[in-house]
Amino acid sequence: MAIKPVLRMGDARLLQRAEPVSHFGTQPLHDLLADMHDTMQALNGAGLAAPQIGVGLRVVIFGVQHNSRYPDAEAVPETVLINPVITPLGEAIEEDWEGCLSVPGMRGLVPRFARIRYQGKDENGIPIDRTVGGFHARVVQHECDHLDGILYPMRILDMKNFGFSEVLFPNTEMQDE
Ligand code: NI
Repeated sequence: MAIKPVLRMGDARLLQRAEPVSHFGTQPLHDLLADMHDTMQALNGAGLAAPQIGVGLRVVIFGVQHNSRYPDAEAVPETVLINPVITPLGEAIEEDWEGCLSVPGMRGLVPRFARIRYQGKDENGIPIDRTVGGFHARVVQHECDHLDGILYPMRILDMKNFGFSEVLFPNTEMQDE
């Protein structure tokens, strides 16, 4: 399919609530996912939500291979998650740095639930039900926020912890979500 332009913060379409998917296994849905995969790969992203390419549906993809450049980052399985529901498990909150393909070149310190259960469906309507923590949980919360029109800078507690990646983390290559 095609690499699509990623909308950047300031575009009103990123602030809208996306609509649920009602039909699975359809060609339009497969086409959308092919575009999302192509776009995420081209930009070396860790995840992408459909609204980021201007499609207002509750569809996210994510996945991170273990990479020697980020020895601390755990691998996250390549996942298609549609109509997701997130349930926090416990009240523990962790702060860590996030980036976003819609906020290029920036990083911010964002609080997220440390452990979550997430449920939803894949592109063929097969249920997904996982309990995860750490970076995996963070990526899912970040991507699903996009479906409710929330960008990570809106969650930063102290704006002193928001800045340009190359200034905050010189000599470090980082993935965006
Ligand atoms: Ni993002």
